[in-house]
Amino acid sequence: KSAQFKNMIKHIDQVPENVIKEEERLTAASPFRQKFHIEAKSGFLNDPNGFSFFNGKYHLFYQWTPLAFKKDPSIWHHGWYHLASSDLVNWEDLGPAIESDSPLDKHGTYSGSAMTVNDKLFCIYTGNTWTNTQTDDWRRLPYQVGAWMDKKNRFEKIDKPLITDSFSDCTGHFRDPKIWMHDNNYYAVLGAQRRNLTGTAKIIKSVGSDLTQWQKYGELKTDEKHLGYMWECPDYFEVDGQGVLLFSPQGLPAKGDHYRNIYQTGYFIGEPLNYDTLEFKHEKFKELDAGFDFYATQTMEAPDGRRIMLAWFGISEIDYPTTKYHYSGCLTIPRELIIKDKKLLQRPIRELKSLRKKETQINLLIDDSMSELNLTGMVTQELDFEVDLSLAEKFVLDLRADQENSHHTRLIIDKEKQACILSRKDSGVMFAEKYGTERRRQVKFQEKLHLHIFIDVSSVEIFIGKGEVVFSARIFPNEDQTKIFVQSIGGESHLVGKIWDL
Ligand code: FRU
Repeated sequence: KSAQFKNMIKHIDQVPENVIKEEERLTAASPFRQKFHIEAKSGFLNDPNGFSFFNGKYHLFYQWTPLAFKKDPSIWHHGWYHLASSDLVNWEDLGPAIESDSPLDKHGTYSGSAMTVNDKLFCIYTGNTWTNTQTDDWRRLPYQVGAWMDKKNRFEKIDKPLITDSFSDCTGHFRDPKIWMHDNNYYAVLGAQRRNLTGTAKIIKSVGSDLTQWQKYGELKTDEKHLGYMWECPDYFEVDGQGVLLFSPQGLPAKGDHYRNIYQTGYFIGEPLNYDTLEFKHEKFKELDAGFDFYATQTMEAPDGRRIMLAWFGISEIDYPTTKYHYSGCLTIPRELIIKDKKLLQRPIRELKSLRKKETQINLLIDDSMSELNLTGMVTQELDFEVDLSLAEKFVLDLRADQENSHHTRLIIDKEKQACILSRKDSGVMFAEKYGTERRRQVKFQEKLHLHIFIDVSSVEIFIGKGEVVFSARIFPNEDQTKIFVQSIGGESHLVGKIWDL
């Protein structure tokens, strides 16, 4: 480790311009570059951070390691990359923001959050550091670090840590503070690992009002004592008077159709948190997204009160086909979270309507022969329709299909089994096969089911039953896979709705 850390660079300015340009050139040559999703110009993108509304705009950062695929540890570098937007659709590129240039974050400016305080944006994140003992045993020493951003987007770090090290009953895995305010006090929830190697969430609380002093307040008391070995990126918020803890636990074994990805993201819904005892009474853990590539969510409350969420449209340790072009990762479209019957529903935010171009109406009776749905040939599309299966058994939707329909990303709605299945077995370039090529969820419906789908160059996001079941999947089709086919099995289905080119 000493060798690895010695030459680590602290600031992007230390990297020669031509090195960055060369990386960006490689990335730009990728056939998989997304059209309306956030991606890095090059390098590795992971968690969304600091999602907030400040100075009349939405601000969003992401974890960024620009030279991750250069495979040269001497120029390894890590930080928060900054974007701003007035509509959550068109993003202004504000460049690298918080870098690993202080003793408190020298081995990584890790995930965190932000909140407007007076006329500044207060950011809180985990400074990852490694420290070695006499015996050369390296251990993680996390700091929770504060930084202020002013209206000119200039950052100033608070030079003393807000919190030093982990809780005494936890290992060094203690990170990803998500801040909020309650009764004039600031709190943050962090992911942690107990010394018995189980995951949990801890709360810190600010002392005084200037946000420079914080205390370790306590453990969030949930019913789950053994849910995985580490919880990452926890987020506590309330919607309609109910408390939600959304987080990414690592180490849940696959169970039936659930927890099929390497790491999971899900939530507890319950009564609002008791701030005196830190008790949180909640329902059982529920996985949030049913797809393949979804992790490390972050939410914010929009000025109009909506709870909006973004996630990393990817997962650790998956080797995405884009790494060949020296980049990886993107963020999901922003989604509104709604609570219905103690469940979180995800819906694409209404602002995305501004992406719509040519509109095509669909009103189609289909049978067991393949019918073509995409008549414009554009690959980036939004589909919003209802399928009526009263006379049919199954509805098959093939997205990003080639002419012969031998390659496609296939969604099957099975009325009898009340299930929906997404398969990327024939999607295109294969990856992550060891975690399976199919995902499945139960969905309750009578005859009609609503589908709302966003297709980008290398992804699909499928919202079923108004957000009851959502499949998020990266796919890497060949360029000739521009078609959509539909088929009805066991009788006719009726489709009514619209398609837009995006
Ligand atoms: C989740 C995560 C966080 C950490 C960050 C580092 O993907 O591991 O826990 O803060 O990524 O990039």
